[in-house]
Amino acid sequence: MKASKIAGGPNPGDVLCHISDIEDDRAKSFSYRSEDDIREIFIHRVGDEIFAYENSCPHAYLPLNMKDGIFTERSGKYFMCHNHGALFDIKTGQCLAGPCHGQSLVKIEVDLVEGNIIAQ
Ligand code: FES
Repeated sequence: MKASKIAGGPNPGDVLCHISDIEDDRAKSFSYRSEDDIREIFIHRVGDEIFAYENSCPHAYLPLNMKDGIFTERSGKYFMCHNHGALFDIKTGQCLAGPCHGQSLVKIEVDLVEGNIIAQ
């Protein structure tokens, strides 16, 4: 899986938020202006774990979520593209079913230090 820094996005060491700012099984999104585009990342929380990705499906570059903070299907086990129903592994970002099968979301590397979520 490829880790990425979004152009115009957070710099290494930037504190994005505190884990307590994100409800369990929900996500928080951040938008950035890059050259001629607005890009977005989301940080999803599962208990004490966090997973951060660019909010852009690898096949059509559409955002995954339809509602703010909700990126998973009902069971909460997979991210789901709400446009096409594609399912993604939360831990790896890999598409397990759908039009982008085998491709992956772009992972954003973050650290969790004393509850603070920090860009790498
Ligand atoms: S945009 Fe790729 S599965 Fe929906």
